Amino acid sequence: MKKVQDFKVLEYSWLNDENYILKLIADDEIPEIKPGNFAEIKVPDSADIFLRRPISVLDVNYEKKTISFYIKAIGKGTRKLGQLNIGQTVNIVYPLGNQFVVQDEKKVLIVGGGSGIAPFVLLGRELQSKDVDVTFLMGGRTKNDIFLTDEFSKYGKVEVTTEDGSRGEKGMVTHHSLFKSEFDFDKVYTCGPDPMMKAVAKIAESKGILCEASLENMMACGIGACLCCVTPTHDGNKVVCTEGPVFNTKELAW
Ligand SMILES: Cc1cc2nc3c(=O)[nH]c(=O)nc-3n(C[C@H](O)[C@H](O)[C@H](O)COP(=O)(O)OP(=O)(O)OC[C@H]3O[C@@H](n4cnc5c(N)ncnc54)[C@H](O)[C@@H]3O)c2cc1C
Ligand code: FES
Repeated sequence: MKKVQDFKVLEYSWLNDENYILKLIADDEIPEIKPGNFAEIKVPDSADIFLRRPISVLDVNYEKKTISFYIKAIGKGTRKLGQLNIGQTVNIVYPLGNQFVVQDEKKVLIVGGGSGIAPFVLLGRELQSKDVDVTFLMGGRTKNDIFLTDEFSKYGKVEVTTEDGSRGEKGMVTHHSLFKSEFDFDKVYTCGPDPMMKAVAKIAESKGILCEASLENMMACGIGACLCCVTPTHDGNKVVCTEGPVFNTKELAW
């Protein structure tokens, strides 16, 4: 059930100068959050930042009433969200969007890059609870773009690629050796920059494997009212904030 709720800033964990985890705490109950759901966060005390910012839910603790977000500070909203005071009030609308589908998969590959790694903690945990064999493949330009691998390693094997070879295999994620060896995954999940997701989807489709991608289109309202987030599909335009952000890549006309 969708909720508009006030939280308080509990703590920050800075991963480097521009990547951080923001942990918030609420007074009342947190509704059930599924892997892939996101929140629209109102940036406090910012008259010039009118629109809420869509951010995936990184983690949630229903008992402690805490929720956390992994945020890459790329602009004024995400920078300001990294400069709040402990105890400051933050209003969020959540949980929004659909979710990654987990059915009867046995062995899955999760490919992430940039801020697109955020939904994969909840997804990894759900897959692990169903005894699914999970491999995470994380890509970045350099080792300084690779985050949360210790967290992901709790739920599966972690592989890394960097374009400069400073960590893991050198190259793009799609150059990783696991695409060259026997590819026995029965599903691929991906989230990150569009070119990365398109390349991953192309490989999955060429191998006849289902691929789900979570799109990070720019959003305004987050609730299907402004239509600024639509994406073309083979079945007409779809509204990413309500009909997505997760799509079977075969549906997408990209
Ligand atoms: C469903 C969804 C989930 C997301 N989850 C996360 C997350 O977990 N962590 C995270 O750090 N970010 C996430 N994002 C991206 C995040 O919403 C944007 O980075 C943020 O809105 C930018 O706001 P800003 O005020 O900092 O930047 P602005 O000042 O508004 O913009 C700075 C620059 O970034 C560009 N930009 C803005 N939004 C996007 C976008 N969505 N994609 C690409 N470029 C953009 C602008 O064109 C501009 O060039 C998500 C986006 C969506 C749609
Ligand atoms: S952001 Fe307004 S319709 Fe999707």
